[in-house]
This record gives sequence, C-alpha cells and structure tokens, in this order.
Amino acid sequence: MADPQSISDHWGRGDVFSMVLDAMKAAGIDPATVTIAQLAPVDHFHARGFPATKELADILPIRQGDHVLDIGCGIGGPARYLADRFDCQVDGIDITEPFVEAANKLTQLVGLEGRVTIQCGDGQKLLYDDEVFDGAYAQHVTMNVADRDSFFGEAFRVLKPGAFFALTEHGLGAAGSPHHPVPWSDDGTGAFLVTPSETEVRLEKAGFAGIEVTDTGDKYLEGYKGAMALAEKGELPLFGVHILLGKTAPQKIRNAARNIEEQRTRPVQIICRKPVQ
Ligand SMILES: C[S@@+](CC[C@H](N)C(=O)[O-])C[C@H]1O[C@@H](n2cnc3c(N)ncnc32)[C@H](O)[C@@H]1O
Repeated sequence: MADPQSISDHWGRGDVFSMVLDAMKAAGIDPATVTIAQLAPVDHFHARGFPATKELADILPIRQGDHVLDIGCGIGGPARYLADRFDCQVDGIDITEPFVEAANKLTQLVGLEGRVTIQCGDGQKLLYDDEVFDGAYAQHVTMNVADRDSFFGEAFRVLKPGAFFALTEHGLGAAGSPHHPVPWSDDGTGAFLVTPSETEVRLEKAGFAGIEVTDTGDKYLEGYKGAMALAEKGELPLFGVHILLGKTAPQKIRNAARNIEEQRTRPVQIICRKPVQ
C-alpha cells in the first residue's frame, strides 16, 4: 500500500491556490470576474484537459438535479463544469489537501459553492453513505491507486443501483516499464499501473456491468505533441495545466507521449454501471 502522504506530496505542496491566482493575474484574468471557462486551461488536470472532460460529459447520462461524485477531483475543474452544465450537485474528494483548498477557493470565486463540495479523502475509503450518488467518475487518478479492489468497491458501494461509473487512466501497455518522470510519478514510486484487461476484471469483481473500454492513446498523443510543440517554441500559455506539473513538466509530458508510442502505457476511457438488482 502506498503512503497517502507521499502521493499527496507528489501532486501538490504549499499554497496551490496562490500559485494559480498568481498565474491567473499574470495572464490578465481578473479573479473578481473569472469564469469557469477562463479557469479551464488549468483546472482540468489530465491529458487533453478541458476537451477530454467535455467529450466524457457528452456521453454520461447526467440529468438536472443528479448527485455526482468526482473521485480524485484535483483542483475541481471537471466538478465545476458538470455542476454548471447539467445543473447538478457534484461532490469531489481528493487525497491532496492543497488541491482541496485550491478547489474550494476557486469554486467560491466562480460562485458555485452551493453546487460543488470538495473534501480531502482517499478514494480507497470513501466518506459517504451507501447508494447516495447517481454517478461517479475518476479522471486520471487510478495510476496512483495501489488497492484497486477497495477503490472500485468503494465507488460501487456509494452508487445507487443503475448509476454510471466512468474512469480515464494510463493503463499499463504491452511493453511495460514506462519511462519516468511522468505526471503521476517522478521515478515509479507511487505508480500502480495495470493493463486495461486487468482493470476490467477488477471492475467486474467489484460488481460493475456493461463495461465499455475505449482506447484514447491516439488522442492523448495528439494532445501531448501539441503541448511539446508549444514548449519548444517557448509559446506555452502563462495559464496552463503545466503550472501544476512543476519544473519537470516538459520531461513528464515528453515521457507520457513516448510511453504511449512505445506501448509502455495504454490510455483508456472506461464506462460501466452498477446493475439494477
Ligand atoms: C492528474 S490529477 C487529476 C485531477 C482531476 N481528476 C482532473 O482530472 O482534473 C490526479 C489526482 O488524483 C488524486 N489522487 C491520487 N490518488 C488518490 C486517492 N487514492 N484518492 C483520492 N485522490 C487521489 C491526486 O491527488 C490528484 O489530484
């Protein structure tokens, strides 16, 4: 089992909110009037950023008034986007306290605190009662999850019968042994990648059905290569997701792309549901 503090330290230390605020101001965005669209380049913290969240949202069966859970919500961009788009309630949980603080402050800035609630916690042991959510998702979280049976079992437990569960991740590829650093690990510490077929088996074991696996490697590769081209020309935006990746952001992005090309990783999107008894 990985030490939760080391996973948290990897993702975010110190005052993450102030760092985002400073970048916002440097990019000429006024925090007093900032919108969720203006936050989008930073707060969708996964491969391809906001377009990937939007594409996922397009196919999720979320209805007005639903109660949705974002497991490993980061600084909360996807949670705010879904709450605003579907007029639903989104709870978020993340293991990284500085991200949770930043998430709640950003939610206040855009006036969504009535619909988005974010707390610190571990997806392997959720804080919620049984069968309370209409759907749950985890975007780019499970690469750091040592105990997938607990993670998926907990998601299953808190979902109502018939609810959806969606997952995006870098699975382990056929060639294995990913190059590091990558966004989720500097040197392999705290990284627990498994193949997409193993993930499918684990989801079935937790009780999920209707499991649909989509390969997202080509799309991610396109996204990473776009970011690499901008970095080479020195044209990365002042307000972009790379600010959350730290000084080694260029190496992390380059390795994430190389791992896909060399089949060391195999990114996937997985959607399934909790059966109605
Ligand atoms: C790449 S970021 C993705 C953040 C968010 N899902 C998004 O797409 O914007 C990975 C996140 O997973 C969180 N995380 C990793 N392991 C976790 C766990 N066991 N429980 C909750 N959060 C976890 C990290 O703290 C980090 O915020």
